[in-house]
Amino acid sequence: MKAIIVYESEYGSTKKYAEWIAAELGCDSVDSKSADVKELANYQAIILGSCIHGGTVPVVELLKSYPVLLEDRKIALFAVGMPPYGSDYLAELQQSISEQVGADIPLFYMRGALDLAKMSQQHQEIFKMLEQKFSEKPLAERSGLEQSIIEACQKDGPSDWMSKEQIKPLLDWATA
Ligand SMILES: Cc1cc2nc3c(=O)[nH]c(=O)nc-3n(C[C@H](O)[C@H](O)[C@H](O)COP(=O)(O)O)c2cc1C
Repeated sequence: MKAIIVYESEYGSTKKYAEWIAAELGCDSVDSKSADVKELANYQAIILGSCIHGGTVPVVELLKSYPVLLEDRKIALFAVGMPPYGSDYLAELQQSISEQVGADIPLFYMRGALDLAKMSQQHQEIFKMLEQKFSEKPLAERSGLEQSIIEACQKDGPSDWMSKEQIKPLLDWATA
């Protein structure tokens, strides 16, 4: 089956996952910004990958702009975020994506990375502000995402939660 991985990655971890998946499946990976939509329509399987930003999955915009990509092919999405895998988090994301594109697409979740030193000034300021805000909450009331933000901001150096293990469920879906 002719397959392609289309990814949107701001700081590189989604791109790295896309490359790991492409290597395992023996297919190409392409940045969504340079993807030719007419070309994509030639593939029988499309795997879209995206960083999660502010609870949204930016690569979904591609499906909203070109719903034709949802037709007559195998399609899945993987989202890369910070907190440990958790059903509530994923269920909310899945629901939001389904509502936006008007279809249920299999969603896989992988943990990414965060290196404050390499982030834009604006993103660093957002994270510092969030760290302060979430630190005021008692530990038991913090969500997985909130706690991950605090830990990443207080850590000396980069946080990296990535592993090849996490692509296995998606590979199983692709090869089924
Ligand atoms: C501005 C910004 C907003 C983010 N928002 C979220 C979020 O809502 N949920 C989450 O799990 N991770 C969030 N993250 C963390 C990223 O999803 C995570 O670092 C991921 O590895 C980034 O992928 P990338 O390296 O491909 O850009 C955010 C990161 C940035 C820079």
